[in-house]
Order: sequence, then structure tokens, then C-alpha cells
Amino acid sequence: MHEIIAKQGLSPNVTRLDVKAPRIAQIRQPGQFVIVHLAEGAERIPLTIADADPERGTIALVIQAVGKSTRDLVALEPGQAIAGIAGPLGKPTELIEKGRALCVGGGVGTAVVHPIAQGLKRRGIPVHSIIGGRSREWVIFEPELRQLGEVTVCTDDGSYGRKGFVTDAARELLAAGGIDMVYAVGPVPMMRAVVNLTRPLGVPTIVSLNPVMVDGTGMCGGCRVTVGGQTLFACVDGPEFDGHHVDFDGLMDRLGTYREFEQRASQACEAGQCRVGLH
Ligand code: NAD
Ligand code: FES
Repeated sequence: MHEIIAKQGLSPNVTRLDVKAPRIAQIRQPGQFVIVHLAEGAERIPLTIADADPERGTIALVIQAVGKSTRDLVALEPGQAIAGIAGPLGKPTELIEKGRALCVGGGVGTAVVHPIAQGLKRRGIPVHSIIGGRSREWVIFEPELRQLGEVTVCTDDGSYGRKGFVTDAARELLAAGGIDMVYAVGPVPMMRAVVNLTRPLGVPTIVSLNPVMVDGTGMCGGCRVTVGGQTLFACVDGPEFDGHHVDFDGLMDRLGTYREFEQRASQACEAGQCRVGLH
């Protein structure tokens, strides 16, 4: 069992849980994730390891409560526990050895960018982070990223920082030159828009993909994505890939496949018909 040590609301539907997982906290690397299994009968949820404290033996999980399973997870309070956490899974981020990096985080994807920026900073790579949210209350991980380098904050409505999408700020920074690598994580349309900016400039760009995952071991095929015409599995070949070669249309299609099922599960739960032994 993995005890919840701390809980913090980061935005209206995003929660940070610091959870006991000493072995994972010791060995995790930027870009890696875990699969969380809350309890018997519950869905398995892939979550990036947003931060880790090896001394305390904790990892930070950042959860956007969008469906039944994620709502169950964020309902946990300190002192309660998660039954199973498998990981660290996935390939670590390919961190550059020299040059200057731009990290672009859209909404909850900013939590995924954080460990990448940490890894770059540890290598002495200057990092500029551009992070964004719908409005001020949706901006997350700003203080943490400010400790790692320069930060530009954008909000869609202009309530904080620059008004506009993260891609507006990224376009200007990239045009000024001097960026050797871009790491972009957020909604699929955002990552595609970043890639459309960097491709003509020839700036390599890594994106983190979030297809539906089941086993996280390359066995079920649930997380397959097409990159450079090849079928790959996000759980073992990723979750980070060369953004210039990702088939974003295929990814959007696959993400949409399960939307109706998720809505039905959520509605059934609200009607008191949950099948998981938590309620
Ligand atoms: P959101 O829709 O609030 O967008 C966050 C920010 O992304 C916006 O403020 C804007 O700056 C930028 N953005 C959004 N759409 C854009 C577009 N078309 N062009 C340019 N920039 C754009 O994001 P959210 O609600 O926090 O995130 C939800 C989505 O992110 C979900 O679909 C979720 O699956 C995905 N997500 C992806 C990952 C990943 O690893 N790739 C991780 C977590 C969440
Ligand atoms: Fe099953 Fe990746 S989650 S193959």
C-alpha cells in the first residue's frame, strides 16, 4: 500500500498527491510515469512522476479529475492509501547535453514538463519555460519552474501573464533564435501547434503522448501510436517521441474512441452504480 502523505489543489480540477513509493522515488528519471491502481476492480491510471523526494521516499502525482477513476483518486486524503503503483515505466527523456532548451507546458501538461526542466537544470542546460492555462487559476507549477530557469506565463483570457496561447509566446521566442531543443507537453492540439512552429525552423521537438494505457508493459496494444509511419507503444517506446514525426490525427482519433465509454462510466457512478469496491 502507498500512503498519501500530502494533498494540494493546484487548479480547479487538478490535484497533487505526494505518495509513499520509496523505490520509485530513488530511481525515477525525467519523463517516466507510473500506473496507479487505486483498489481492487479499479481502472489503472497512467500518471507522470511530476517530482520525487528520495529522502522522504515520496513521488508527486498530478491528477486532472476528468472521469470516475481520477475523481476517486483525488478524493483520497492524507493517511489513506493507493493499493498499487507500478513503475517507473517508459523511457526517460532524451536530455540535451549542451545548448539551450525551451519547455512548453499547456495546462496540466505543465506538471509533465517539470521533471524535464529539473533534469535539464541538473545538467546545467539553461531552460526557458512557457506555461499556460485558461486563466490565472489554471496555471500550475509556476513557482517550481521559476527555480529552474526563466518562465513566461500565458493565459487564454489575459487574467495573468501574457494574453494568448503558449504557442504565441513560443513563436516569438523561437523567432529570436538560440533554442536548440523544445520539449512540449499539453493538449494534443497544443503539441501539434508547437511542432508546426518548430518544423520549419528545424528545431528538434519532443512531445509526450497520452494515449489510453492498460497494462503499461507493451502487451495490450492499447497505447499504440504512429510515429514516422511506424506503430509504436507509448508505454514502452515512449511516452516521449520526436514531435516532427508523430501522427497527431491518429492520436486524436484513438483518444476519442473511449470518450463515450468514459462518459457512461462517469454517469453510472454519479447515479450510484459504481462497480469498483470503493463506494
Ligand atoms: P487546456 O485545454 O486548458 O489548455 C491548456 C493550454 O494549452 C492553453 O491555456 C493554451 O495555452 C494551450 N493550448 C490549448 N489548445 C491550444 C491550441 N489549439 N493551440 C495552441 N495552444 C493551445 O488544457 P488542460 O485542460 O489542462 O489539459 C487537458 C488536455 O491535456 C487533455 O486532453 C489531456 O489528455 C491532455 N494532457 C496531455 C498530457 C500529455 O502527456 N501529453 C498530460 C496531461 C494532460
Ligand atoms: Fe498496453 Fe502500452 S499500455 S501496450
